[in-house]
Amino acid sequence: LERQVDCLMARTFSHRTLEELAGNASVPIVNALSDAEHPCQALADLLTIHEQVGDFRERNIAFIGDGNNVATSLALGAALLGASFVIASPHGYELPGDALAKAAAIAAKYKATVMQVTAPEKAALNADVVYTDVWTSMGQENQAQQRRRIFQEYQVTPKLMALAKPKAVFMHDLPAHHGEEIAVGMLDHPQSVVFTQAENKLHATKSLLELLLA
Ligand code: NVA
Repeated sequence: LERQVDCLMARTFSHRTLEELAGNASVPIVNALSDAEHPCQALADLLTIHEQVGDFRERNIAFIGDGNNVATSLALGAALLGASFVIASPHGYELPGDALAKAAAIAAKYKATVMQVTAPEKAALNADVVYTDVWTSMGQENQAQQRRRIFQEYQVTPKLMALAKPKAVFMHDLPAHHGEEIAVGMLDHPQSVVFTQAENKLHATKSLLELLLA
């Protein structure tokens, strides 16, 4: 493949597959989603937050739900820019401990914090950004039923959104499941920036390619 392309963007389930690719290829390998991280999504998310909310310092980003690939990359990215990040997850579905510790150490340099909590209300309170992702990620389809039960208190609703700052934005990386992680109508909520966020994946990824190839 490296004889034919200048860059390879791979969406794998196993993060190990990406590492193997990166270890053996002479062209840049971009993580387009693995079970561990989703950094291209985080670039688009951070671009959107910058456009919609402004500076990152003294901002609170709240993630409601699974401590998954999207949450991990957003926590690390937010920390690198000096924002505080809090995630509310049920027991057993928290952000991986190493990611939490790494993000917290980076954030501390900016006097920002990275926290894991259980109650969605605690995370959403005074947030500048309320973010959620699917309860069941790709490759976990056989756990969907169990996850629907465990995550049922972790739905983003207009009521939860009302706990955030008045100018807070609602974000989701899509595709969304109405009636699961979001209440029906949440994508069209007045504070939703979900479709701007989706468009920004195009712009952020183009910038990444320019950086890698120019
Ligand atoms: N956490 C989700 C993100 C989808 C863009 C997944 O891995 O399936």
